[in-house]
Amino acid sequence: MLVTAAARGLGLAVARALRDSGDRVHVAWRSTESAASMLAAEFPERMHRADLARAEGARDLVSAVLAREGRLDVLVHPVGEFLSASLESTTPDDLERMFLSNVLTSVHAFDAARAALRATRGTGLFFGVAGLDALRGRRDTAGYAAAKSALLVLVRSWALEEARFGVRVNSLSPGLVPHADSDPMTRDPAVIRRIPLGRTGTPEEVARAALFLCSEDARYMTGVDLPVSGGWLA
Ligand SMILES: NC(=O)c1ccc[n+]([C@@H]2O[C@H](COP(=O)([O-])OP(=O)(O)OC[C@H]3O[C@@H](n4cnc5c(N)ncnc54)[C@H](OP(=O)(O)O)[C@@H]3O)[C@@H](O)[C@H]2O)c1
Repeated sequence: MLVTAAARGLGLAVARALRDSGDRVHVAWRSTESAASMLAAEFPERMHRADLARAEGARDLVSAVLAREGRLDVLVHPVGEFLSASLESTTPDDLERMFLSNVLTSVHAFDAARAALRATRGTGLFFGVAGLDALRGRRDTAGYAAAKSALLVLVRSWALEEARFGVRVNSLSPGLVPHADSDPMTRDPAVIRRIPLGRTGTPEEVARAALFLCSEDARYMTGVDLPVSGGWLA
């Protein structure tokens, strides 16, 4: 198994949950240096540094996992930067960064893992954001949501293309899930008041949903986007 963006936040929670359920989990990180020693202790010899904005970065990462395990059955890819800004104040560079980290890294990761996943009839899991299905306009997060919407179309298209090989591809869409490195918006009381279940989620709650989608219990599910949002933007 391979979990990207595992140095912090939701990726770290998913990697720990998969490991705690007995799986051999490889983790990848890019720039959160402070987490490197923690990852090395928790995932000894299964930790990789990779910038997935480049196709070679993704290919080298998957090759390293295959060199050690000989197989890959699960790819979890929570990579994706966030941007809170009106469209008026979003620059072309900002938009490029949103599409690079949310869309292109996913393409590189899936392309690199595709053959290995076919060999195991494995599964891929990507991360959207709550409310994607409704294709709403967004006052403060339009660039980010546009990139996540593009990712959702890719996920559903991969699901269609890969079904005949027995590969499932899904996404999970968190609502507000604060963690040590999350954007201040995840703690904004005005937004939290609009969550039907009345509170933000925890990384562990997201990880449980991820475990389900990657498990045999979800073997008849593909092309699904599962909101984990306490009903927010449902
Ligand atoms: N937390 C929430 O409330 C929330 C809500 C909705 C959706 N989501 C989505 O859920 C996913 C995880 O959320 P999060 O809050 O844990 O994210 P986060 O704290 O913002 O972290 C983003 C992660 O993406 C990695 N990353 C970005 N660009 C990369 C690249 N080019 N190559 C490799 N890694 C790259 C970063 O790695 P390094 O730090 O190592 O550079 C970091 O681990 C994201 O896709 C996010 O959009 C989160």
